[in-house]
Amino acid sequence: LPYQIAVIPGDGIGKEVMPEGLRVLRAAAARFGIALALREIEWASCDWYQVHGEMMPADWKAQLQGCDALLFGAVGWPATVPDHISLWGSLLKFRREFDQYINLRPARLFDGVPCPLVDRQGRPRQPGEIDMLIVRENTEGEYTNLGGVMFAGTEREFVIQESVYTRIGAERVLRYAFEQARQRRRRHLTVATKSNGIAISMPWWDALAAEVALDYPEVTVDRQHIDILTARFVLQPERFDVVVATNLFGDILSDLGPACTGTIGLAPSANLNPDRRFPSLFEPVHGSAPDIYGRNIANPIAMIWSAALLLDFLTRGEGAGRAAHDAILRAIEAVLREGPHTPDLGGDADTTRIGQAIAERVVAG
Ligand code: NAI
Ligand code: MG
Repeated sequence: LPYQIAVIPGDGIGKEVMPEGLRVLRAAAARFGIALALREIEWASCDWYQVHGEMMPADWKAQLQGCDALLFGAVGWPATVPDHISLWGSLLKFRREFDQYINLRPARLFDGVPCPLVDRQGRPRQPGEIDMLIVRENTEGEYTNLGGVMFAGTEREFVIQESVYTRIGAERVLRYAFEQARQRRRRHLTVATKSNGIAISMPWWDALAAEVALDYPEVTVDRQHIDILTARFVLQPERFDVVVATNLFGDILSDLGPACTGTIGLAPSANLNPDRRFPSLFEPVHGSAPDIYGRNIANPIAMIWSAALLLDFLTRGEGAGRAAHDAILRAIEAVLREGPHTPDLGGDADTTRIGQAIAERVVAG
C-alpha cells in the first residue's frame, strides 16, 4: 500500500519551492522503491481564505483521514490576511490537533556555503564545526492562551499568561532528545534552561532531565542557561550536538541555529507525532517570503531536505526511506559544494534549476 502524503504548498514561495520538493521526493521514491500517493491540497492558504473567509474547511481533519504525513510549504500573505490568522488557522492547528510534540530542526554548515561566524582567530567556521540538532517542545510550555488582561485602561491594569509544563510533555521530549543524541557520533545533549531566573518550572525541568539522563549513561549532558547558550551558539557553535528546549527557547534557538549556518533557505524541520497516532508534518523553517515571491529565485533546499526527513520518518529510519534520505542529503551536499546556487548563496540560478540539479544527482546515485 502506498504511503498517503498530503501536499500543501500554501502561500508565496511555498508555491515555488513545493514543485522542487516534489520533484526530488518523486525521484528518490522511484529510485528506492517507495510507493507514495500524493494529494495536493489548496486550502491552508491565504488564497483559499480570500474566497472562503477561513484558512481551512470545517472538515479538514476528515479530509486528512488516513494520510501518513503532510508536506507543507509556507503559509502567510500579510497583504491580505493578518499573520496571526493565517498561522493559527492552519499550521498551529496541525501541530496541536495532531499532537506533533517534537519539532526537529537540524542546523549544519555545508561545504560551499559562506558562514557568517568566525572563530577566535577571525577565521570563518568550517563545515564540521557546526552540526547540531535542535529538539523543540512543540505543544505546551510558554505558548498557551491561559491568562488575560484585567482592569484594562485603569491604573490597576495587569496581564497574566501562564506557562504549562506537564510531566508527560516534558519527559517525552527529553527522552526523544536523549534517543537522538545516543544515535549520533558525539552523543552529547545540551539542555536549555533558565533555572536561576525562572525559579519554579526550570529547576523542575532540570530535575526531570537529570532523572531521564540516568537511562542514557552513554550520553554526556550539560545544562546551560538560555542567555549564555545563545551567546555560545554564535561564539562556540562546535560545542553543540543535540539541544533540547522548551517551546519558546526552542523557537528562538531554531531560528538562531540556521542563521549561524549561512541562509535560512537551507533549514528544514519536522513536526513529529512520534507515536504515529496522527500524521507528522514536514516543512521548511522559512516563511512565504513575499519580498522575493514571483521571481522563482527562492532556495528550494529547505523544502527538499524536509521531504528527505519525511521519507526517513515514514520508514522509521530504516531501509529504503533512510537510503532515500541519505541520497537526497548527498545530492544537496554536492550541489552546495559545486553549484548551481540561488541568489541567497551568491549565485544566479533559479529555483527550478536547483531542484533539477538535486533530482539528477539523486537519480544518478
Ligand atoms: P520569511 O522566512 O518568509 O522571510 C525572511 C527573509 O528570508 C526574507 O528576506 C526572504 O526573502 C528570505 N527567505 C526566506 N526563505 C527563503 C528562501 N527559501 N530562499 C531565499 N530567501 C529566503 O519570513 P517573514 O518575512 O518574517 O514572513 C513572511 C510571511 O511568512 C509572513 O506571513 C509570516 O507569518 C510567514 N511565515 C510562515 C512560516 C511558516 O509557514 N512556517 C514561518 C515564518 C513566517
Ligand atoms: Mg520561529
